[in-house]
Amino acid sequence: MTSGTNHQIRLAARPVGLPKRGDWQFTEVPIAEPRDGEVLTRVLYLSLDPAMRGWMNEGRSYIAPVALGDVMRAGGVGKVVASKHPKFAAGDTVSGGLGVQEFAALDGAQLTKIDPKLAPLPTFLNTLGMPGMTAYFGLLDVGNPAEGDTVVVSAAAGAVGATVGQIAKIKGCRAVGIAGGAAKCRYIGDELGFDAAIDYKAGDVRKSLHAHCPNGVNVYFDNVGGDILDVVLTQLARHARVVVCGAISQYNNTTPIKGPSNYLSLVVNRARMEGMIVFDYASRYPQAVSDMAGWIAAGKLKSREDIVEGLANFPETLLKLFSGENFGKLVLKVAGE
Ligand SMILES: NC(=O)c1ccc[n+]([C@@H]2O[C@H](COP(=O)([O-])OP(=O)(O)OC[C@H]3O[C@@H](n4cnc5c(N)ncnc54)[C@H](OP(=O)(O)O)[C@@H]3O)[C@@H](O)[C@H]2O)c1
Repeated sequence: MTSGTNHQIRLAARPVGLPKRGDWQFTEVPIAEPRDGEVLTRVLYLSLDPAMRGWMNEGRSYIAPVALGDVMRAGGVGKVVASKHPKFAAGDTVSGGLGVQEFAALDGAQLTKIDPKLAPLPTFLNTLGMPGMTAYFGLLDVGNPAEGDTVVVSAAAGAVGATVGQIAKIKGCRAVGIAGGAAKCRYIGDELGFDAAIDYKAGDVRKSLHAHCPNGVNVYFDNVGGDILDVVLTQLARHARVVVCGAISQYNNTTPIKGPSNYLSLVVNRARMEGMIVFDYASRYPQAVSDMAGWIAAGKLKSREDIVEGLANFPETLLKLFSGENFGKLVLKVAGE
């Protein structure tokens, strides 16, 4: 028997623009007993993702919206407290869609056992987790970079972007990152080994791109959309690939999304733009995790997490993604290991 209280954060209203505190409801329920096939997990770390903003909206997408009144959807890492599923036992470390709460009772089929000896637990929400998988498959499968190609990535100091640039380097490409602020630009250049960094808040992105990509952009991995996408489109090389991963600059718009006005560059350069959703690659995650863990062990792939503590801080912490205050993968620590 497990007794005690489970603190949860539920979606109370569909936000207009940036989510406000009133869009959330804080609830307390008794910790659930796992039913047959279920696993009760204590949540340790939660992944805070730009996609959460989209899940809060009504409407058709690649995944159903979070229903009003439901616990907010979130990926996480936790420790099994009790199990009625044959594959899991108390004490196992697992990852899965645990939700913004302290305890999750879920069907064991929705959880993955992870090896805590492989890396610190927050890394399983970063390079060894969903953002890492996005970078790996988005760049390698959709971007299809060849050695010597110039790969440009936006939100380059963030979870997905930092990994894209590092994989590009591992594959023998030239990596150019676009990020906000001098500290992030120094980080991707000095610590992550990008060949060039462009501070989009400081200068003329078009001019800098031209200077750093004299032969054009072969792969653009787009995390931000909006004006930056439009500028990069003007600098494509022939047969370039534009990976549409996300458009964080547009997620809180209260007016229609700004589409690319320079898209005819795709015609001129015989280029293509292709969207991707990481979940489509789920059957291939084990291979990617194995490659990524190997690169981490070899010192070729660095992982940086920005960890904020306390479930109750979820609403304000999520907003850091949209102001650019997060420096690395944004993680909420819910309980100590
Ligand atoms: N397609 C998929 O399957 C998939 C999966 C995961 C993530 N994604 C997408 O990948 C992108 C990056 O996600 P992440 O988890 O790695 O987040 P992240 O990059 O760690 O954090 C978000 C970053 O976006 C930048 N940003 C915020 N507002 C911006 C604006 N108006 N203009 C330009 N940059 C802005 C900020 O960096 P600066 O300080 O540099 O501005 C911020 O730190 C998002 O668009 C997300 O939706 C897609």
